[in-house]
Amino acid sequence: MPHTLVENIGLLVTNDSAQDGTALGLIHDAAFLVENEKVIWVGSSASAPRKDVSNTIDAQGRCVIPGFVDSHSHLVFAGDRSAEFSARMQGDSYSAGGINSTVELTRQASNGDLLRSARRLVAEAITSGTTTIECKSGYGLTVDDEARSLAVAKQITSETTFLGAHVVPKEFKSDPEGYVDLVCGPMLDAALPNAKWVDVFCDKGAFSSDQARKILKAGIAKGLLPRLHANQLEPGDGVQIGVELDAASVDHVSHLSDRDIATLAGSNTVATLLPAAEFSTRSHYLDARRLFEAGVVVGLASDCNPGSSYTTNMPFVIALAVREMHFSPEQAIWSATAGGAQALRRSDVGHLGLGASADFSILSTSSYIHLAYRPGVPLIDEVWRHGTRIK
Ligand code: NIG
Ligand code: FE
Repeated sequence: MPHTLVENIGLLVTNDSAQDGTALGLIHDAAFLVENEKVIWVGSSASAPRKDVSNTIDAQGRCVIPGFVDSHSHLVFAGDRSAEFSARMQGDSYSAGGINSTVELTRQASNGDLLRSARRLVAEAITSGTTTIECKSGYGLTVDDEARSLAVAKQITSETTFLGAHVVPKEFKSDPEGYVDLVCGPMLDAALPNAKWVDVFCDKGAFSSDQARKILKAGIAKGLLPRLHANQLEPGDGVQIGVELDAASVDHVSHLSDRDIATLAGSNTVATLLPAAEFSTRSHYLDARRLFEAGVVVGLASDCNPGSSYTTNMPFVIALAVREMHFSPEQAIWSATAGGAQALRRSDVGHLGLGASADFSILSTSSYIHLAYRPGVPLIDEVWRHGTRIK
């Protein structure tokens, strides 16, 4: 079997702590070997096995990191909300209600238009180093529009999430419980063929704790795996519900009590922070040191969507996490790779240890620190997924 050798890596981030005793598992002057899309050897460049190597990639001293695992995005929608963003930057505040304007445009769009737009966003994400992306429905909010949103999502990723409970659509304004029943019944059934996860926006102006619990349990009963939008706009029970139902991740979590943090610390649930949403809604940033000090596993994701966070750029997310949420650069890189993988319960991505999928980026610089230190600068030279170059 032909092997690909990536050599002369100035600094390699493996996320395998056995390498150097730190979470990033750093190796200087490193190399790794890929066979059948998987990493089969990692070590120093000088000792790299060369037998059977048919293809050599010279990293020329640059830094190599695992591909970003963006565990939270909403890529299936039509139109944009630039006017809403502009008004917000002049003083308006963000509310969940804005989702309905995207719902209107999404319902009118053809499947082809939705797929083209989602593919354009995935191409953008790849350019900035993302190799795994989760994608939610949630701008259809009818049985048919949610089903076709998920069919589109399934064409761009295997990490698809049913978010029929994004907001109560206009036509159910006077009957929110009727909408919850629709979500738990026919809409869920129509989502099943193309959904892996079930999610609820549990927050002010969206769904209550009781509604969230009911919807997640309905999804779990049909074989979907739970994750949750929780505590973005105000404190609430979202984190407690997520942990109670063994959600892979609770996301946003901008408002956390000490009890929430203690609950997360003793759980299997990742806290996924979305600082680009705070940026774009001009909201308060959580001090992530509270989570790290308690031992909570933290993920970082883009939350790409047309309302609260219209970016696919994980280096930007990392820069915000470091500058505004007090992550160290090391914590931010880990959270955007291994943390994202854990938030999707995936062990094959988010690291470059033995057996990992050969998903990685070659940076234009000698250190991952530059991703936060040189904000806004395109530092991702090459992107590889399953051992194939995609940028
Ligand atoms: O994750 N919070 C809920 N959903 C999205 C926002 C959706 C929108 O405003 O269109 C989010 O921020
Ligand atoms: Fe979201």
